[in-house]
Amino acid sequence: MKKTRNNLKETKYYNSGIELWKEAEKIIPGGNGLLSKRPQRYLPDFWPTYYKRSKKLNIWDLNGKKYTDMAQMGVGTCILGYSNDVINKKIIKSIKDGNNSTLNSKDEFILAKKLLKIDKFAEQVKFARGGGEAIDIAIRIARASTKRDNIIFSGYHGWYDWYLATNLTKKNGLKDHLLPGLDPMGVPKKLKNTVKPLRYNDIKELTKIKNPKSYAAFILEPCRFFYPEKKFIKKVNEFCKKNKICLIIDEITTGFRETLGGIYKKVGLNPDMVVYGKGLGNGHPISCIVGKKKFLKYSNQSFISSTAWTERSGFVAACAVIDFIKSKKVTSQISKNGKFLKKEWIKISKKNKIDISVSEFNALPTFYFNYEKQNEKLYTIFTYEMLKRNYLASNSVYLSYAHKKKDLKKYLLNFDIVIKIIKKYIDGKLQFNFKTRYQGFKRLN
Ligand SMILES: Cc1ncc(COP(=O)(O)O)c(C=O)c1O
Repeated sequence: MKKTRNNLKETKYYNSGIELWKEAEKIIPGGNGLLSKRPQRYLPDFWPTYYKRSKKLNIWDLNGKKYTDMAQMGVGTCILGYSNDVINKKIIKSIKDGNNSTLNSKDEFILAKKLLKIDKFAEQVKFARGGGEAIDIAIRIARASTKRDNIIFSGYHGWYDWYLATNLTKKNGLKDHLLPGLDPMGVPKKLKNTVKPLRYNDIKELTKIKNPKSYAAFILEPCRFFYPEKKFIKKVNEFCKKNKICLIIDEITTGFRETLGGIYKKVGLNPDMVVYGKGLGNGHPISCIVGKKKFLKYSNQSFISSTAWTERSGFVAACAVIDFIKSKKVTSQISKNGKFLKKEWIKISKKNKIDISVSEFNALPTFYFNYEKQNEKLYTIFTYEMLKRNYLASNSVYLSYAHKKKDLKKYLLNFDIVIKIIKKYIDGKLQFNFKTRYQGFKRLN
C-alpha cells in the first residue's frame, strides 16, 4: 500500500507565516513586491514565507524556527551571508552620522573610483537602487547616445516598459527569457516592434536581423545557468561594433559572485556599459551602470535623476562589499563550493538511480530532474522534505561566503535522504497530496 506524506499543517512544521500571507494577499496585490519571494514558487501550502531574523546562512521564521538557507539568499543579494558584521558596522556608523543631508555623500565618489578600478574599460559610473531601474537607465542612455530606438536582448532584464513591450509584438516573446506568460497590460502600444528578443546562441537569427542600424542597444546576460557559446559571443561583439550598437552587459545576477565585478571578461564580451545590482550591496539596495564616457555622458544630457539615488547607505554598503571581497577569498570559495555541490549532487543521484543534470555556472549551482511532466512535483517534494529537515531549499542555490564546506556536507547528507524519498515516489511507493509549485519564473495569478 502507498504511504501518504502530505500534511505539515497537522504537525510541528506548520507555520504562522502561511496564515499571514493569505491576509497580505488581500491588501498587497500579489502579497509582496517580488515574484521570487512568493510561497507559490516553492511550496504553496507550507513555505514559511516570512522571516524575523537572518544571520550568516540562517533564517528564523515568525515562530522562531531556524532554517539553513540553501535556496535564494535574499534572491541572490547576500553574497557575503546575511547581516554580515563587517558591512553592518560601516552602515551603522553611516546611519549614526546621518544617512542623508542637503549635501552629497562622498561615498558616492569613493564607490565610483572603486568600480572604475575593477572595470578598466569604463570611464564613468551612474548609480541607482534597483536592478531593473539601472537597466532602464542604461537603455535610455543607449537610445539618447545613438539617436536610435530599437533594442535587442537575451535574458531577463526586469519589469520596465521597454522590456515588456516584447510581448506587444508576439504574445509569448519573453518565453525563452525566464518569464513566460506575461501580459504587457499598461505598456504603451506604440512601443510595439521596438524590442527584439534573441535566444542565446542563435547566431542564425542574429545574422538575419533586418535594419541593424535602427538598434540602439544589444543587452544580454553574460550567462545565467549555462555559458553562451564562444562563437555566439564573437558574433555579438562583431555585430555591435560593425553597426555601432551599444553593447550592455546585465551582470545583476552574475556580478560579484564568481569574480570581483562581472564575468563578461571571462566569457569574452566587449561591453560599452555594464550594469550591477543585487550582490553589490549584500542585500542593501544599490545598483550602477559603469561604462564608456561617450555613452554615459548622455545620462546628464537626457534627464535621469532621483532623490533616493543619493542616500548614503547604499554607497557605504557597496564600498564595504568590494573591500571585503578583495580581502577574503570570497569569489573563489563560492565558485569552488558550487563545483563541489554539483559533483556531489550527481554522485548521490546516480547512487540512488535518480536522473538529474546540473548547470554550468559554478556560483549559482542548479540541478534539474529529468522526469518531464513529473519534474515540478519532484521539486516540490524536494522542498517539502528539506523543509522538514530545517532547510529552505530548491533546485538552485545562491551560494554565499557564509556557506562553508562543512555546511554543504551536512546539507548533502540530507539531500541523500530526500533523494531516496523521491525515488520511492517515482517508484509509486509514496504519495504526496499537496499543491505543486509554480514552474520556474512564471506569472503567478
Ligand atoms: C539579470 C537580471 N537583470 C535584471 C534584474 C532585475 O533586477 P531587480 O529585481 O533588482 O529590479 C534581475 C533580477 O533578478 C536579473 O537577474
